[in-house]
Formats: sequence, C-alpha cells, structure tokens
Amino acid sequence: MLTIPKLPIRKKYETIGVLTSGGDAPGMNAAIRAVVRYAIVQGCEAYGIYKGYTGLLEGQIEKMELSSVANIIQRGGTILKTSRCPAFLKKSVRQEAANLLRRTGIDALVVIGGDGSFRGAHLLQKETGFPCIGVPGTIDNDIWGSEDTIGFDTAVNTAIEAIDRIRDTASSHDRLFLVEVMGRSSGFIAVQVGIGGGAETVVVPEEKLSISELCKGIDRGEARGKSSSIIVVAEGAKPGGMATSLAAKLSKRGYNPRVCILGHIQRGGRPTADDRLLASVLGSGAVAYLLAGRSNQMVGVHEGKVKLIPFSEIANKRKPLPKEILKLAEALAT
Ligand code: ADP
Ligand code: F6P
Repeated sequence: MLTIPKLPIRKKYETIGVLTSGGDAPGMNAAIRAVVRYAIVQGCEAYGIYKGYTGLLEGQIEKMELSSVANIIQRGGTILKTSRCPAFLKKSVRQEAANLLRRTGIDALVVIGGDGSFRGAHLLQKETGFPCIGVPGTIDNDIWGSEDTIGFDTAVNTAIEAIDRIRDTASSHDRLFLVEVMGRSSGFIAVQVGIGGGAETVVVPEEKLSISELCKGIDRGEARGKSSSIIVVAEGAKPGGMATSLAAKLSKRGYNPRVCILGHIQRGGRPTADDRLLASVLGSGAVAYLLAGRSNQMVGVHEGKVKLIPFSEIANKRKPLPKEILKLAEALAT
C-alpha cells in the first residue's frame, strides 16, 4: 500500500499554505484535509488560500484548524475553490504573490493542481525563492513522472458507469455511439475507460486513426454479429470537437452514429477509495517533504512508491501513453 517514506525534519516552517489550481478533481478535498491536518500535527500552522493563484493575489487567505477540514474527505470539488489565472504568467505578478505570501507569514506553499499549475509554482520558486511543492490533482493523469493523479480513478469510474448506461440503449436500438471523454490532449482517460467499458474502438490524440480504419473496425464488428458499437473518443485539444467531427465523417459514409459528450460530470462526484487514499498520502507527503527541506518538486507515484519529481522535468516532458495499452484495448475489442 502507498505510504510516505520516513523523512528527516530539516526545516522548521511555522506556516504552510495550501491552494488548489486549474481544473478541479474529485479527491482534492482529501488532499487539502491531509495537508492541513499533517501540518498541524507536525506543529505548523496551516493557511488555506481560496481560488488558486487568483485568490492568492487577492489575499483570499484563511487560517485553517483541524476542524476546518472535517467532513470533506467524501466530497468532490474543492472547498478552497480553484481558478485559472492568466495573470500568473507574468513574472511581476509572481513576485507580487511571493511578497503577499511572506507578508501573511506563510513560509512554504503546497499547490494541488495539474502540470500547468506546477509550471507556475516552478517559476514562483525559481524567481523568488519561495518554497513550493506540488500534489498532482487532475483527472487527466497526464503529468510526467507520476503513474497516477488525484481524480483520475474517480473520473474513469464515472465515465465507465455512463458507458454501461449507454450500452443498454445502444443494444436496444442496435446503434453506434461515439462517447467523448475528457483528458485535454492526452488519452489516459479514454484508454482506461475504453478497456473498462468494453468499447469497440478507442480514439486518442496520441495515435493517428484514419476514418477508413475506423469504418473497417465497425464493419468487422458487424460482420461477426455485433449489432451495436461504442467508440470512446478522447476530446483532444478542443472539448466537444472530436466526437462531433468524427460523427459527421461517419454519417457521410452511411453510418448513423449518436454522440454523447460526457463533459464535466467526469470532474465531479464522490472520490473513490483509491483517490481518497492517494490524496491523503500525497497531501501528507507534500508536508513531510517540505519539512525535510525539499521543494520545487511534485510528490508523485512511481512503481507503487511515493517519489519526488522536479517541476523542471514536468514542465518540459510529456507523459507518453504506452502503446501496449492501446494494443490491448484493440485486441480485447475485436
Ligand atoms: P492545470 O494545473 O489543471 O494544468 P492550467 O493549465 O489551467 O491547469 O494551469 C492552472 C494555472 O496555472 C493557470 O491558470 C496559470 O495561472 C498557471 N500557469 C499555467 N501555466 C503557467 C506558466 N507557463 N507560467 C506561469 N503560470 C502558469
Ligand atoms: O485538465 C482537466 C480538464 O478536465 C480537462 O480534461 C478538460 O479539457 C479541461 O479541464 C476543461 O477545463 P474547464 O473546466 O476549464 O472547461
């Protein structure tokens, strides 16, 4: 089971701040709870920063007690709210953020978010020396160096439950469905949902699939007696674009597809047990590593163990979707 490694205490931070940034993810509350409680148990004060980097710049900061994070582990979303903050792209704004943190008496910052949020945290620390550590909270599971991210398991389960429902009506009407899932420009959600949902085909941004190959796959299934098909499509860079444009191409070739874009239901809901454990371990681990004198890194999972991945690596590398998993999805769908 995932646990925090035994770490020395090298830094006596008085106060640790925590914020959630970018797309929210189920399990973020469990991570916030872990950061706050672990920090207080280690003798630090914990401050919650609302609305990500936007709220940080507006000084929306509040001292957190053990009770502040009671009864939230089971809730989706983030009690600290989140944001996307284009202003943070500016160096002068990041300097302002560091000054505000220091003025508030905060000594170190835990950023719960995706790779974009970590780009911001990396620059914040590099330019101002303010110690930051990242906790991977995004349903996309597309962060270099970590096998998992908080929210991915819940989002995949939500999408599979939706596909099981779609399969009922698809088989009742002998229909072809294109089901679009999130993941921005990565296909991790699509491939895991495709396998778990028993989809006939999975379309991901990492792999080129021509429309004629797609048609061949549908026809092969029909030839061996499939009367309905479900194709899982990763949204790609433009949400709501991929499945709709594929459906138009299929219609031109005489198919009659229905499109179901799952959208933001994948971002909500009660976090699964796996996500709650992952969030609790990574949130606590972030504080433990800060107190061990580590920063400018993300706490991730590698070969079933908690490990640190430098922000500088995450910013410059794209997490590859293993080809083998795509081949497996294809083999099991024939
Ligand atoms: P996620 O963290 O889920 O990937 P985004 O990519 O929207 O979400 O990033 C969240 C926020 O992080 C952005 O709104 C911005 O404030 C900050 N951010 C993202 N990329 C950078 C960057 N290159 N430099 C500075 N800040 C960034
Ligand atoms: O990064 C998480 C994510 O859910 C992506 O999968 C998706 O494309 C994006 O956020 C949607 O962003 P927003 O909620 O801002 O529309």
